[in-house]
Amino acid sequence: MQEILEAIEGGASGDDIAALAIPESYRAAHVLRAEQEMWEGVPSSDKDPRKSLHIGQVPTPELAPDEVYVAVMASAINFNTVWTSIFEPLPTFGFLDRLGSESVWGARHAQDFHVVGSDASGVILEAGSAVRSWKPGDRVTVHCNYVDDQDPSSHDDSMLAANQRIWGFESNYGGLADLAIVKANQLMPKPAHLTWEEAAVNGLCASTSYRMLVGRHAARMKQGDNVFIWGATGGIGAYATQLVLNGGGTPVGVVSSGDRARLLNAMGCEHVVDRKTEGYRFWTDENTQDEGEWRRLGKTVRSLIGDDPDIVFEHPGRQTMGASVFIAKRGGTIVTCAATSGFMIEYDNRHLWMKLKRIVSSHFANYQEAWDMNRLIDRGAIQPVMSAVYPLEQVGEAARVVHRNEAEGKLAVLCLAPEAGRGVTDTEKRERVGEDRITLFQRHARGEL
Ligand SMILES: NC(=O)c1ccc[n+]([C@@H]2O[C@H](COP(=O)([O-])OP(=O)(O)OC[C@H]3O[C@@H](n4cnc5c(N)ncnc54)[C@H](OP(=O)(O)O)[C@@H]3O)[C@@H](O)[C@H]2O)c1
Repeated sequence: MQEILEAIEGGASGDDIAALAIPESYRAAHVLRAEQEMWEGVPSSDKDPRKSLHIGQVPTPELAPDEVYVAVMASAINFNTVWTSIFEPLPTFGFLDRLGSESVWGARHAQDFHVVGSDASGVILEAGSAVRSWKPGDRVTVHCNYVDDQDPSSHDDSMLAANQRIWGFESNYGGLADLAIVKANQLMPKPAHLTWEEAAVNGLCASTSYRMLVGRHAARMKQGDNVFIWGATGGIGAYATQLVLNGGGTPVGVVSSGDRARLLNAMGCEHVVDRKTEGYRFWTDENTQDEGEWRRLGKTVRSLIGDDPDIVFEHPGRQTMGASVFIAKRGGTIVTCAATSGFMIEYDNRHLWMKLKRIVSSHFANYQEAWDMNRLIDRGAIQPVMSAVYPLEQVGEAARVVHRNEAEGKLAVLCLAPEAGRGVTDTEKRERVGEDRITLFQRHARGEL
C-alpha cells in the first residue's frame, strides 16, 4: 500500500497507477461474526463500538467486471457504522449471507468479517473489464447505493430495486479501509477544491438529505418553503439546513445546546429551537405522549416564522414523530428516513388526515440524486460539514462519539492519507468558495467561532 500511496501523492499517471500490484490483503475496519452476540443483555447506550470494531488485514477479494478497486484516502463515520458495531437492530452478517447466496460475485461478501464504511474518497487503481466511464488514476468519491443493474426493478428509480443495498452496511468491503471494491455506478468525480477527508464525508448524508428534500421522490421542496429540521447540525440535518437555504427556503433548526445553536446561526439559519434548554418532553412516560408539548413546539415555530412548516425533516423517530405530525402545516409533508430513538412510531392520526398532511418515506438516494448533490458540492454551493478527523486506528472511538451524540456534522477517517489537509488540486476554486465556509464545522469544533 505504501507504493500505491507514494504513486498517488507523487502525481503518477493513470498508466503508472494501473501498473501497480494490488496487494493480497489490506487494512480494514471490520466486525466479526463470532462476536455478533457480544452485546446480549447490554443496553444500547452502553454498547461500545471500540470493543467491536477491529482494525486488521483482510484478504483482497477478486474484482468483478463492473467494479473498480479504489485506494481509499479517506472515509467517514455514518450512523450505520454505529448500527453495525452495536449489532442493532440486527447483526449485518444476515445481509452478507443473503447477498452471498445471490450470485458467484455476491458469494465474495459472505465472510466471517464485515468491512464497514459507506463513504470514501480515493483513487481508482484498477477497473474491471465492463467498466467504461472510469479508469485508473481517476480521483473519485463514492456513493453507497449498491444495485444490480441487470434487475428490471432497478431501472425506474434504483432505490426501488428489489436488490437495493447500502454499500459497506449491507455489502462487505466498505470504505473504512485502505482499499475498497466499488461498482462503477457508485463513482462520482472528487471535488477538486476539497481535501480527501472533506470530500469523503458527503456521499451518504448529503445525498440522503437531497432525496428527502429536493429530489422528485420525496418532499419536493419549493422555493420559499418553511422546513423544520430535527438534528439540524447532525449528519443529515446539516446538509438539509444548507439545501433549504440554497433552495430559497426558511429552515427552522432544532439542536440540543446553545453551542449548536450558535453553529446553526453561523451557517445562516436564523430560526433555532434548542430542545434541551427549552425542556421539551414529548413523552410523559414510555407509553404516553403529551399533546401540550406538541402545541408548545407548534407555537414556538409560529412565533419564529409566522407560519407552520411546509415540510418536517424527520429522523429521530419514536421520540419526535407525534410532534412532527402535529406541527406540519395543513397539507404539509413529514419526510422520514430513520428512527434513531425507536422504530415503533405513534402519532395522532386525526392531526394527519383532518389536515390532509402526508408522511413520505425516503431512503438514501439513486445515482442521479447522489450525482446532483455531488455537483452542488463541487460548485461550492453546499459545504462539507466535517467537524473532526480520526485515523483509521481510532475508528471505534469515532463511532462511539457519534453513538453518544457528541459530534456535530460528520467525522472523517483518514485511511491511506497520512495526514489531514491533502488532496486539493484546485486551490483557486477553494479560495473562490471560501476557506471559512468550507471549514466552518472544523473551526466550530476547535472553539474558533
Ligand atoms: N435512510 C437513510 O438513507 C439514512 C441515511 C443517513 C442517515 N440515516 C439515519 O438518520 C439518523 C440520523 O443520522 P445522522 O447521520 O444525521 O446522525 P447524527 O449525526 O448522529 O445526527 C442526528 C441528530 O439528531 C438529533 N437527535 C438524536 N436523537 C434525538 C431525539 N431523541 N430527539 C430529537 N433529536 C434527536 C441530534 O441533534 P441534537 O441533539 O442537536 O438535537 C443529532 O445530532 C440515523 O438514525 C441514521 O441511521 C438514514
